[in-house]
Amino acid sequence: MESRHAQRKNEHLSLAAKYYDQVHQHHYFDQVRLIHDSLPEMTTDDVDLHVQLADNLEIECPFYIEAMTGGSDQALKINRQLAQLAHKHHLAMATGSLSIISKDPQAFSSFEIIREENPDGIIFANLSANASLDQAVNAISLLKANALELHINVAQELIMPEGDRDFNWLDNIQYLVSELEVPVIVKEVGFGMSKTTIAKLQTHDVHLINVSGRGGTNFAAIENRRNHDINFESLLDWGQTTPESLLEAHSIRRGKTEIIASGGIISPLDVIKAGVLGARAVGVAGYFLNILQNEGYEALDQTLSEWQVIVKRLLALLGCSSFTELSRVEYVLGTDLLSYARQRHLR
Ligand SMILES: Cc1cc2nc3c(=O)[nH]c(=O)nc-3n(C[C@H](O)[C@H](O)[C@H](O)COP(=O)(O)O)c2cc1C
Repeated sequence: MESRHAQRKNEHLSLAAKYYDQVHQHHYFDQVRLIHDSLPEMTTDDVDLHVQLADNLEIECPFYIEAMTGGSDQALKINRQLAQLAHKHHLAMATGSLSIISKDPQAFSSFEIIREENPDGIIFANLSANASLDQAVNAISLLKANALELHINVAQELIMPEGDRDFNWLDNIQYLVSELEVPVIVKEVGFGMSKTTIAKLQTHDVHLINVSGRGGTNFAAIENRRNHDINFESLLDWGQTTPESLLEAHSIRRGKTEIIASGGIISPLDVIKAGVLGARAVGVAGYFLNILQNEGYEALDQTLSEWQVIVKRLLALLGCSSFTELSRVEYVLGTDLLSYARQRHLR
């Protein structure tokens, strides 16, 4: 019999799959159209996919496997397969939240497998924004993690029957950033970020921010399905989409802040569009999980190979020799996104 936490993790996996098709009825990246240049004046061999995210954090490919799971037998099996593929394709990979291991140390095996399968790969450990310094140091050293992701997930916690109700996180985040030796990425879980949120993070010394917007995995829907007492249906459309969040981020002075995108990324063109809107790297969770769970390991293997080839060719098509250069590509916005941008004074 698995613990309550393990059951919750299994429910997340099965509900993420169940709601997958519904959420992809809206593809918000369609609201971004890139301008074609028939004379890129370069070769595909000029393209280098490496991205420097921080002084001590370089990834070999701009897209990576975003935080998903850990803490149950099923999670172990998924993490093993994802880590094998991350290793094969030289992709960075984030773990699911490691918060569980302070209560249930045995759960660690389902995370440890990620490092075992990918001894030299780039791994982001994942914890809640209220994690203690001990928890963070422990998670990083156990996994030999190259960075720490701290998730900020107010909307999800509020809908969860057993969720947190205290959201005083900023001072703790700043403290962890100041004490840890690895880079800290603060991420949403699919509700997006406004310029206000990003500015607050910047003033608390956070320089790697994953806006993780609406448009893919929907934790309002997932947690609402798990909550049998209160119906939070009215929050199913809560938050900013990923393109909206990227425009929000783009509108404020960056300084040394780097933006990462995730949320609703379902194609190599989405990866590129996120780069054009200012993302330095792109995390993909639900789309890859769905392929792994419904079509199997080989199908995801094939998808990852294809995505790498296509991303490289799209960069050449746009005349960019690196992912970072995408920020100079011209684009136009669809009516809805343009209206959002104007009302928010983002353009
Ligand atoms: C099954 C599942 C479990 C997740 N668990 C975590 C988690 O433990 N920590 C976290 O920061 N994000 C978690 N996420 C959120 C993702 O990292 C990502 O922010 C979100 O799903 C949006 O990306 P997507 O649309 O590509 O799925 C999870 C996502 C899925 C699908």
